[in-house]
Amino acid sequence: MPNEARYLILLGPPMSGKGTQAARLTQLLGIPQVASGDLFRENIKDETNLGLEAKTYIDRGDLVPDEITIGMVKERLHREDCRGGALLDGFPRTIPQAEALDEILADLGSFLAAVISIAVPEDILVARASGRRICRTCGHSFHLVFDPPGEPDVCDYDGGELYQREDDKPETVRQRLEVYQGQTSPLIEFYRVRSILREINGDQPIDDVAMDITAVINEL
Ligand code: AP5
Ligand code: MG
Repeated sequence: MPNEARYLILLGPPMSGKGTQAARLTQLLGIPQVASGDLFRENIKDETNLGLEAKTYIDRGDLVPDEITIGMVKERLHREDCRGGALLDGFPRTIPQAEALDEILADLGSFLAAVISIAVPEDILVARASGRRICRTCGHSFHLVFDPPGEPDVCDYDGGELYQREDDKPETVRQRLEVYQGQTSPLIEFYRVRSILREINGDQPIDDVAMDITAVINEL
């Protein structure tokens, strides 16, 4: 009999606001955020073998190969703090990753509760990239215009230095968007046919997107 853990996916293109919304939702739901991009960036910072290998793909705006990504996320989901569920941000990004996730959750005696798909027009995504700033220590995302920190270049949460991600350069953002269209957007249909997809308009102020997502979760 599956347990009542809540595993949810936040699905959406680069810059759609997955990380921004996940940070709010984890507090509301009491489950951790599992963000594959953040896990890769931690490995890069710590100069692990996985980080060194992933960096070559990330710097080009390509996906890290499935076997590396699946192994990393599987290990994370088996940790104690994910026993009550997790909010997946940036994983899965390919059909094989989605199939692997089903197996991982089945091993944990659970299943996917819902997939929240955040839709934003492409021109808005490109405009968001140039203003994004990330905290070097906690990874929180700010935006110079849409979600500015209280003090320039300083994180509101832990005082860490804010920086611009290397892969937020315009040419890399364009490549990430192409990769999303080719390899990740088919997941929308994959989950729609399973009737667990919930679609959200991500082209609204951050608080309004958060309200829409909360309403969807309350209906579950
Ligand atoms: P990852 O870190 O996951 O990057 P991404 O999917 O490209 O998404 P982002 O983090 O850029 O955007 P987001 O949706 O989190 O938006 P955010 O909330 O920050 O992955 C990086 C790389 O790692 C990949 O390219 C790949 O190489 C590799 N990788 C990761 N996962 C992988 C996987 N599963 N398989 C293989 N490879 C993988 O918001 C963006 C900005 O907009 C912020 O400045 C924010 O303040 C602002 N903002 C947010 N919402 C709004 C709003 N409603 N209105 C106005 N501004 C807003
Ligand atoms: Mg993110």
